[in-house]
Amino acid sequence: MDEIVIDGGGKLQGRVKISGAKNSALPILAATLLTEETSVIENVPHLRDVHTMVKILRSLGVKVRMATDRIEVSPGKFNKCVAPYKLVSTMRASICVLGPLLAHLGRAQISLPGGCVIGPRPIDLHIKGIEALGADVKIEHGYIVARSKQLVGSDIYLGGHFGPSVLATATTMMAATLAKGKTVIESCACEPELIDLAEFLRKMGARIKGVGSPRVEVDGVERLKGAHHTITPDRIEAGTYMVAAAITRGDVEVEGCRFDHLTAVIDRLQQAGVKITKCANGLRVRAPGKLRPVDVTTLSYPGFPTDMQAQMMMLMSVTEGISVITEKVFPDRFLHVSELNRMGSHIFLEGSSAIVHGVKRLSGAPVMASDLRASAALILAGLVAEGRTDVSRVYHLDRGYERIEDKLRALGAKIKRVKK
Ligand code: UD1
Repeated sequence: MDEIVIDGGGKLQGRVKISGAKNSALPILAATLLTEETSVIENVPHLRDVHTMVKILRSLGVKVRMATDRIEVSPGKFNKCVAPYKLVSTMRASICVLGPLLAHLGRAQISLPGGCVIGPRPIDLHIKGIEALGADVKIEHGYIVARSKQLVGSDIYLGGHFGPSVLATATTMMAATLAKGKTVIESCACEPELIDLAEFLRKMGARIKGVGSPRVEVDGVERLKGAHHTITPDRIEAGTYMVAAAITRGDVEVEGCRFDHLTAVIDRLQQAGVKITKCANGLRVRAPGKLRPVDVTTLSYPGFPTDMQAQMMMLMSVTEGISVITEKVFPDRFLHVSELNRMGSHIFLEGSSAIVHGVKRLSGAPVMASDLRASAALILAGLVAEGRTDVSRVYHLDRGYERIEDKLRALGAKIKRVKK
């Protein structure tokens, strides 16, 4: 298995180009199943999760052509409806195909994803959404088995114990596009990736209003057509490079990212003393002086993203003073803490909060990635630690960051991938 090896210490300088958003690409690729016609998706990042989604599409009998950052999906008259355990177990977002398969074929059989290292990953809201549209849903032999001859529009309240759900909103919205009549979904997630998905669905002929707000209305249509779409930039990748610039006291232009998708991250970084300005095609991030500790609470969008929690914790762990990081979306998402502490961080867990005592220096060590964003935090730690850091289990990193070692090296980092 590959490892990433980093010699810490240098400042990052230069420009980095942000790739298309993983969390847009996955539901959009799944949405191509709503029609027999060909769709073309551009600016798709080369990531392990995207390749897993392509494997799922192919396992359904769908033709997929891939060229650089463009993916062409031609479902034709496919009729398989099973997303198998061996693929779903490697990527929870496989659940994205539930709504499209049910709406287009009238049946879907998706392996239950189970829990994962960031805590339990229930799917009750996905089931609630499709049941409200009239689907018959059963759990059989570890699979969700959903059937419906014709979905019917309905009024649905989709709020959950931990707030709205991004992918349950996507499932319900996609299923409702082909339902008979009108669907009103209340307490939807408002993430920019859902707006991107809705734009793609509209190009396919869907009639959707209100996406980006908690109330979404869908007027069902009889059929959808193929469409051409370009994926929005990845705000989490952008946020990660912004923290990389700040933590190394560097000066980096983060190209192609959208300011309006990053306001909560920008706010916390600016409060910490990081200088962020708009530039021609993105944001310039500098951290010339000493930074201040800031408290962070993760929330659904437009709040601070849980997918940036580990990276922000890393920044705070080398910022002198005390900060409190509270996780409200996935309260158990703290596996990175023990690895960061092995490098010299002082972080204590108290329920769903981490109390971070900023230290002056970290020292490089062999560390193990536990999940996608935790891996990013370990890479950031390696960039500032004294000496060498070896990050193992980097397959987590490859799920969500396109060529991270190449992009960081181009900014001056001493980083390489070692094939093992
Ligand atoms: C998406 C993102 C992921 C991000 C997360 C939260 C994709 C592919 N992934 O995941 O990167 O970390 O949003 O911003 O877009 N929940 C329930 N019942 C459900 C579904 C979720 O209780 O049926 C809970 C979850 O356990 C969690 C909260 O709702 O506490 C939010 O999770 P959710 O928004 O569903 O995450 P995903 O959509 O899976």
